[in-house]
Amino acid sequence: MNTKVNLAGVELKNPVMTASGTFGSGEEYSEMIDLNHLGAVVTKGVANVPWPGNPTPRIAETYGGMINAIGLQNPGMEVFIKRDIPFLKQYDTKIIVNVCGKTTEDYIEVVERLADEPVDMLEINISCPNVKEGGIAFGQDPKAVEAITREVKKYAKQPVIMKLSPNVTDIGVMAKAAEAGGADVLSLINTLTGMKIDINRRTFAVANKTGGLSGPAIKPIAVRMVYQAANAVKLPIVGMGGIMNAEDAVEFILAGATAVSVGTANFRNPYAAEETVRGIEDYMKKYQVKDIGEIVGAVR
Ligand SMILES: Cc1cc2nc3c(=O)[nH]c(=O)nc-3n(C[C@H](O)[C@H](O)[C@H](O)COP(=O)(O)O)c2cc1C
Repeated sequence: MNTKVNLAGVELKNPVMTASGTFGSGEEYSEMIDLNHLGAVVTKGVANVPWPGNPTPRIAETYGGMINAIGLQNPGMEVFIKRDIPFLKQYDTKIIVNVCGKTTEDYIEVVERLADEPVDMLEINISCPNVKEGGIAFGQDPKAVEAITREVKKYAKQPVIMKLSPNVTDIGVMAKAAEAGGADVLSLINTLTGMKIDINRRTFAVANKTGGLSGPAIKPIAVRMVYQAANAVKLPIVGMGGIMNAEDAVEFILAGATAVSVGTANFRNPYAAEETVRGIEDYMKKYQVKDIGEIVGAVR
């Protein structure tokens, strides 16, 4: 049975990775699960300088999911490189660094700084709904998506995953724009912009007013968008959005995802990513799938 998948020349032992911002750089989770079992660890967003994030409260529960407006709090690339890369290097898994920025120059500074670090791939977040500048400002206009992709590709030494926003009218247009800019891989979906109101306090549940909705509530939208993106471009796709277990992951793979990310599920069940790896193997045994590639995009 072959569970290996190839993303732009990078071979993952299986298609399961962690979704950025839900797994730190794996330190806390490594006390519970074996990071060696994961296809890849995708880190929290890293910027050129430390970002303080948004005012609190920054998280609220919703039916079948959560709203977050963390605002990409992170310690900046120098701390990340010194502290988190050596930690992750201890494991036999691929390292994918999620990059955030407010301007094109910010993104490029991080990408250039990571060029000689032992990082397998870069995931460029142009889809965070919780920061005013950058993030989603790049991700909602196809011309901007193509332009930032092209710029990043000029400087990147590692293959580039462009992370797309679901907060758009036509995901196929965005996928094609990233492909035209030279993206190696696409990942989707980031969170959907949502709002929750606390009726007792008569105010917004998160201080930012709006936040990103994630978790099983968004899964059908995510599966639809992965299907549409996979059919719009030739690039491999990393699918995510509400994956709680292997059954959910297989759904994304059948829709066209070569790999999948487990996100919000990690908060509810820290074993979710590892269980998803084993569950995909069980599915392959049950249906006599010899190579995971056989089922990528098998539903048309
Ligand atoms: C608390 C939290 C923090 C997140 N931080 C990031 C981030 O730093 N960069 C990024 O690209 N996506 C970030 N995301 C989005 C997730 O990686 C993922 O795209 C989204 O949550 C959908 O997947 P899920 O429903 O499985 O969580 C974050 C999501 C959550 C819930």
